[in-house]
Amino acid sequence: MTYARITGIGSYLPEKVLTNKDLEKMMDTSDEWIRERTGIKRRHIAADDETTSSLGLIAARHAMEMADVTAGDLDMIIVATCTPDKVIPGTACIIQRHLGAKRCPAIDINAACSGFIYGLDQANRYLVTGGGRRALVIGAETLSRITDWHDRTTAVLFGDGAGAAVLEVSDEPGILSTHIHANGEFEDLLQTRNGVSLGFDASAGLGAFIEMNGNAVFKRAVATFDSMARETVADLDGHLEDIDWFIPHQANMRIILAAAKKLGMSMDRVIATVDEHANTSAASIPLAMDLAVRDGRIKRGDTLLIGAFGAGFTWGSAMLEF
Ligand code: ACO
Repeated sequence: MTYARITGIGSYLPEKVLTNKDLEKMMDTSDEWIRERTGIKRRHIAADDETTSSLGLIAARHAMEMADVTAGDLDMIIVATCTPDKVIPGTACIIQRHLGAKRCPAIDINAACSGFIYGLDQANRYLVTGGGRRALVIGAETLSRITDWHDRTTAVLFGDGAGAAVLEVSDEPGILSTHIHANGEFEDLLQTRNGVSLGFDASAGLGAFIEMNGNAVFKRAVATFDSMARETVADLDGHLEDIDWFIPHQANMRIILAAAKKLGMSMDRVIATVDEHANTSAASIPLAMDLAVRDGRIKRGDTLLIGAFGAGFTWGSAMLEF
């Protein structure tokens, strides 16, 4: 059987760190409130001269180094982001140029926080059906650029960063299953009110900032992890104990705890980075995966379950042997 297998993983976080204490000086909030409600302690923020492509490029280079592949080996580049450098060209094309990967297709996917799983799903299908032998999937975000720093209900939640994975065709098990979904009915609960086609209305004080009904999103996210757990149980014929590590999207520690409980996973088998990174949307899962691979927790042959939920709403999961 032919699989798409992750042969390299990498990440990058901007140098600048913004702690909860720093936020206390910027708005009416407290370290205690943020930790209690979200589990977040700090987040990384891109410098003025950093962009989504520059973060993604560094993460990609780390992943390619681990996989021992060069730019010329790549047959596909996918960048999952909701904060692209520009409207056109796509961020994937910008990264492709910097890597020197001259001819392979390069596309962006916007599925918000589920973007990396959408990218894995697409790359997996492309590789196992003979589209190519190697794909680079990047999740990269500069959410600080669409954060309203006057809105304490959202500003404390987000951070910047990038993660990347190289997938290669292999006879050895790799991606075992993927499930991706969307339901556009809930657009109003988590959105930027304005944008390119809708236009910007700076005079009305409305920029393209993230707006969210936190309580409603929280409830939906927890319920969605429940349905994700049921899909996964079906894939495994009920053998959830076969999963070595669960890597959820890192939005809120309380959502992660609820998701782990639904899956019956003890927290010592869950990778959580939300305390250090906050919510980095499409970058959060590959960032967490890279950290746990490089610190030795995740080993070759381990079975991983990854799951995400984000604006759209979009959600998805993937099970893979690392
Ligand atoms: N500091 C201090 N107080 C605050 C802050 C803050 N940063 N933010 C809100 N509050 C206040 C509120 O004004 C409210 O005060 P009130 O009772 O006087 O009205 C009180 O704290 C409670 O507010 P709630 O919104 O009820 O707090 P909740 O416990 O629901 O936590 C949170 C809010 C953290 C946003 C939570 O709802 C959540 O995590 N939701 C899901 C968020 C999420 O995961 N979104 C990302 C999806 S991913 C993507 O696609 C981008």
